[in-house]
Amino acid sequence: MTKTYAVIGDPIDHSLSPNIHNAAFKELGLDCTYIAYRVPKGELEAGIKSLKSINIAGFNVTIPHKIEMIKHLDSLDEDCSVIGATNTVTNDNGKLSGYNTDMEGFLDPIKKRELAIKDSKVLLLGAGGAARAIVAGFAKEKAHNITIANRTKEKANALVQFAHKIGIEAKAITINEVAESASEYSFIVNATSIGLKNEPAPISTKSINEKSVVYDIVYMPMNTELIKQSKKNGATIIYGYEMLLSQAARAFKIWHGIDVPYETMKKALLGGV
Ligand SMILES: NC(=O)c1ccc[n+]([C@@H]2O[C@H](COP(=O)([O-])OP(=O)(O)OC[C@H]3O[C@@H](n4cnc5c(N)ncnc54)[C@H](OP(=O)(O)O)[C@@H]3O)[C@@H](O)[C@H]2O)c1
Repeated sequence: MTKTYAVIGDPIDHSLSPNIHNAAFKELGLDCTYIAYRVPKGELEAGIKSLKSINIAGFNVTIPHKIEMIKHLDSLDEDCSVIGATNTVTNDNGKLSGYNTDMEGFLDPIKKRELAIKDSKVLLLGAGGAARAIVAGFAKEKAHNITIANRTKEKANALVQFAHKIGIEAKAITINEVAESASEYSFIVNATSIGLKNEPAPISTKSINEKSVVYDIVYMPMNTELIKQSKKNGATIIYGYEMLLSQAARAFKIWHGIDVPYETMKKALLGGV
């Protein structure tokens, strides 16, 4: 019988997860399908009930349910409990197990390039759900410290509390306070949604240089203004689509127990770039 997988969230119509998972199923000849299912805020419990009623094999969780979903799990893995959010769930006859592949999915492209995180200084733009998994990733890899710059300072403060709790030095500033300080950091990560609508870069890129690693987790467009300008300045660039593919590949492995055809997923995402 065909196994069904899904991504739940709201909005969900822009999600590229069905494209990449379905391309992998086709390539591997798996009798599986992956759908996008809109579950509005406040309707998670009903959404889960309907997923169970169609005997969903597994599902991804995105905005706004990553944290609330934790309450509905029967068990959770270590990354999931440290981060306090889940993005990947398995269903074993109604028993739901949660995983978080965002953190390792974020780290994979850095490791692939053999860039050293240990003792590095990090500038993280944004303090939302994705930023939380990123803080956990830098803490795990023993970065020296992390400056969290966010439009809303209270949210940056809350993320600093989380960083301290998991053992990494951190401080909060507003995004305007970054000014020309980018060159003081080895890693500059954009985890705000600035760039999605082709906006100007979230910070000044003047001091970004060939020693900087600039990682923009916004994946659409692939070349955000931050990426374009940092590339001109000679920085090492990591694209948001790389994180998207890595977290998807890790979810695929959890569900199917096999490695994903990465190039197939990449082609489905980028159209053969
Ligand atoms: N590549 C991947 O695999 C991957 C994975 C997850 C997420 N993402 C992308 O990462 C981005 C953030 O996702 P999320 O889940 O963390 O979302 P979120 O929880 O809604 O957080 C959004 C963040 O962006 C900031 N922000 C939004 N609009 C802004 C503006 N106009 N000016 C300044 N700051 C602004 C918010 O600041 P305030 O706190 O001030 O509102 C907050 O820090 C999204 O674009 C998402 O698509 C990519």
